[in-house]
Amino acid sequence: MVTAIIGVQWGDEGKGKFVDFLSEKADIVVRVQGGANAGHTIVVDGKQCILHLIPAGILHPQTTCVIGHGAVIDPQVLLDEIKVLKDLGIETKGRLLISNRAHLVMPYHKILDGLKEDKGGQKIGTTRRGIGPAYMDKAARSGIRVVDLLKPERLKEKIRENIAFVNKTLGGVYHVPEMEAETIVREYLTFDQTIDPYITDTTAFLHESVRQKKNIILEGAQGTLLDLDLGTYPFVTSSNTTAGGASTGSGIGPTRIDKVIGIAKAYITRVGEGPMPTELPEPEGTRLRERGHEFGATTGRPRRCGWFDAVIGRFACQISGVDELAITKLDVLDDMKSIKICTGYKFEGQILKYFPADLEILAAVEPVYEEMPGWQSDTSGVRKFADLPLPAQKYLNRLEELMETRVGLISVGAGREQTIVKQ
Ligand code: GDP
Ligand code: IMO
Ligand code: MG
Repeated sequence: MVTAIIGVQWGDEGKGKFVDFLSEKADIVVRVQGGANAGHTIVVDGKQCILHLIPAGILHPQTTCVIGHGAVIDPQVLLDEIKVLKDLGIETKGRLLISNRAHLVMPYHKILDGLKEDKGGQKIGTTRRGIGPAYMDKAARSGIRVVDLLKPERLKEKIRENIAFVNKTLGGVYHVPEMEAETIVREYLTFDQTIDPYITDTTAFLHESVRQKKNIILEGAQGTLLDLDLGTYPFVTSSNTTAGGASTGSGIGPTRIDKVIGIAKAYITRVGEGPMPTELPEPEGTRLRERGHEFGATTGRPRRCGWFDAVIGRFACQISGVDELAITKLDVLDDMKSIKICTGYKFEGQILKYFPADLEILAAVEPVYEEMPGWQSDTSGVRKFADLPLPAQKYLNRLEELMETRVGLISVGAGREQTIVKQ
């Protein structure tokens, strides 16, 4: 059984929590795309663990965790994360496999990411983790892959070649000091020694695992509206964050993915720039941010908060063929008197039939809201759907109707146990 778990909003939906929750029965958990721009939070017995690269399934001792070739790997972040897990008593040796085809995030990718943000015109509000430039090199066919770490001479040659080009941009475009190829060569050659035991052909491993009918979870990063092709371009990340991306990023064919679970918050958040139709004005935005502790798990930036946007939800469910939704952070709405859901976008007096490609239109739309009564009671201890207050049940049923997708899982707190499986 292969299950893909993807975000259906602008990221930070609670993918980490559900990957961990569903990993109890998993043999293998695969991170399929993105890089250290992701921050996936897991809370077990009140203790919080934030993972950026290693799959959130690692906390379950029976799982083998894979970083697939669709991801871009910053070796330093990876080593730091291996150490954090070791300090928690979790040994990754023998349990973590890294694709030899994955591309590496290089020091110049991070510098170029920051420079483009600060001096390059259109600000995206990236995480500055070098993600865009790393995927640019991959698409330009000048990227450096994990497999290159195994051949020092080839690694040196590639770094020198890339640095010669990068320095033209650093000096000529941004007027900042150039970089030294040899320093990077030395640094990356040491990674070879530490990362070597983890490197393998993960696609071959996954094909054999699918053949053996192993229980496999594909862990997406970011969310559908940050997808390079179908998100709110250019305010997106540089990979495919959809179920399609889970297939290309793991090497598991689309017909072998048995189930797609979409994760959505009971409201919506976004970090970084770009239009967000249901964004709440102040002070309501701050109220929701504080109640939901909406600060980025990677950069600590405050997240922009808004009402649930069912136009986005429906669009995302269609793109990925979502079979089942998991709605997180229902408890954050507990004290609301009334709750709004955006059911459509009005533009120049007409309701738009579809999610617009033109961001000027998206920025100008007027959300059409449906208002529902809140429940004003604590749901954090509820474990059965039938025990939720009636207005909360109605709210979830309405989301289901609007997105034409079944809500199968509900989260009422960050803890692993604060989860409702709807029968
Ligand atoms: P991810 O990137 O999709 O894995 O999500 P993040 O970890 O970046 O952000 C989700 C945040 O919400 C984390 O701090 C989680 O611990 C927290 N969280 C997840 N589910 C719930 C929930 O149902 N209720 C509350 N209050 N917090 C939750
Ligand atoms: P997880 O996996 C939320 C956003 C950034 C920025 C845009 C591009 O934790 O849900 P990038 O650094 O990728 O070039 O930035 O994408 N972004 C995320 N927002 N959650 C994430 O990951 C994100 N990863 C990137 O804020 O707007
Ligand atoms: Mg996150």
